[in-house]
Amino acid sequence: MGLVNMRLDGKVALVVGGAKNLGKIECMALAEAGADIAIIDIAIPEARETANEIRKATKRRVIVLKADVRSTPQIDRAVQKIADKMGSIDVMVYNAGTTIRKKVWDMSDEDWDRVLDINLTGAFVSARATARQMIKQGKGGKIINISTMAAFVGEPDRTAYCASKGGMNLLTKALAIDLAPHNIQVNGICPGVFDTGLVKETSFLQPAFHQSLVDRTLYKRRGWPHEIAGITVFLSTPASDYITGDNILLDGGMLAH
Ligand SMILES: NC(=O)c1ccc[n+]([C@@H]2O[C@H](COP(=O)([O-])OP(=O)(O)OC[C@H]3O[C@@H](n4cnc5c(N)ncnc54)[C@H](O)[C@@H]3O)[C@@H](O)[C@H]2O)c1
Repeated sequence: MGLVNMRLDGKVALVVGGAKNLGKIECMALAEAGADIAIIDIAIPEARETANEIRKATKRRVIVLKADVRSTPQIDRAVQKIADKMGSIDVMVYNAGTTIRKKVWDMSDEDWDRVLDINLTGAFVSARATARQMIKQGKGGKIINISTMAAFVGEPDRTAYCASKGGMNLLTKALAIDLAPHNIQVNGICPGVFDTGLVKETSFLQPAFHQSLVDRTLYKRRGWPHEIAGITVFLSTPASDYITGDNILLDGGMLAH
C-alpha cells in the first residue's frame, strides 16, 4: 500500500436504498473503486437496472435483494443472504430515506412514524445487522449513514425529517463508540441540495424556499449527484481509518455562514 489507499478490491459493499438517484451513484462509485455490490431496496425494477449498469461498466458482481427497512426480519434475512452469497460485508451505506412536507399541525401520527421508521429506525436495524456480521468476520468495516444538512438546522414543513436525521447524526456517533473496539468506523454524510430523488420530487411545492437554499450555497448551485461519489468512496476505504463518529457536510458551504 502507498501513502493513500482509496481502493476496495476484494471488498463487498452493501447499499441499503441503493436502487436509484444518490444511492445509485454511491453503488457505482463503490464498484468503480473495486468493490462487489449488494443492493437492498423495495424498488426492485430500478435496483435491477442499476445492477445491470454497474455490471456493464465495472464488471463487478452485483446482487439485488428486496427488503423493507421497516421490517427487522426482512433486513436480518437479507444481510445474512448477502454474507452467504458474497462471502462478507465490509462496507454498509444506509441511503434509504423519505420525507413528508407538511406543517406540524397537519402531520398525523402515521406521517411521523413513517419518516422516523424509514430514516432512523431503519438505519439502526441495518447497522445492527451489519455490525453483527462485521464483528463475526473480525476484520473491521465501515458504516456510512446518509443524513442531510437539515440534521443541523431546522427547515419549514419538515419536523419529522429534521428530527429523524438529527437522530441519525447522534446514532452515528453512538455506533462509532460501540464499534470502535471492532475496528468498524461509522460516519455520516450530510448533503445539502442535490437535484435528485427526494428534492426533485418535492421542491416544486416550495420553489422560493428551494431557490433560497441554493442561493445560500457559496457556489450558488445544487450539488451534482457525482459529488457524493468521492466522499462515499473515501469513507469506505482505509484512507479514512482515523475518522469515526463524524457527520460531514456536503452542502457547497451553505452552513458556513
Ligand atoms: N436529494 C437530496 O438533495 C438530498 C439531500 C440531503 C439528503 N438526502 C438523503 O439522501 C438519501 C437519498 O436521497 P434521494 O434524493 O436519492 O432519495 P430517493 O427517494 O431517490 O432514494 C431513497 C431510496 O430509498 C429507498 N427506500 C425508501 N423507502 C424504503 C424502504 N422502506 N425500504 C427499503 N428501501 C427504501 C427508495 O426506494 C430509494 O431507492 C436519503 O436518505 C435522503 O434523505 C438527499
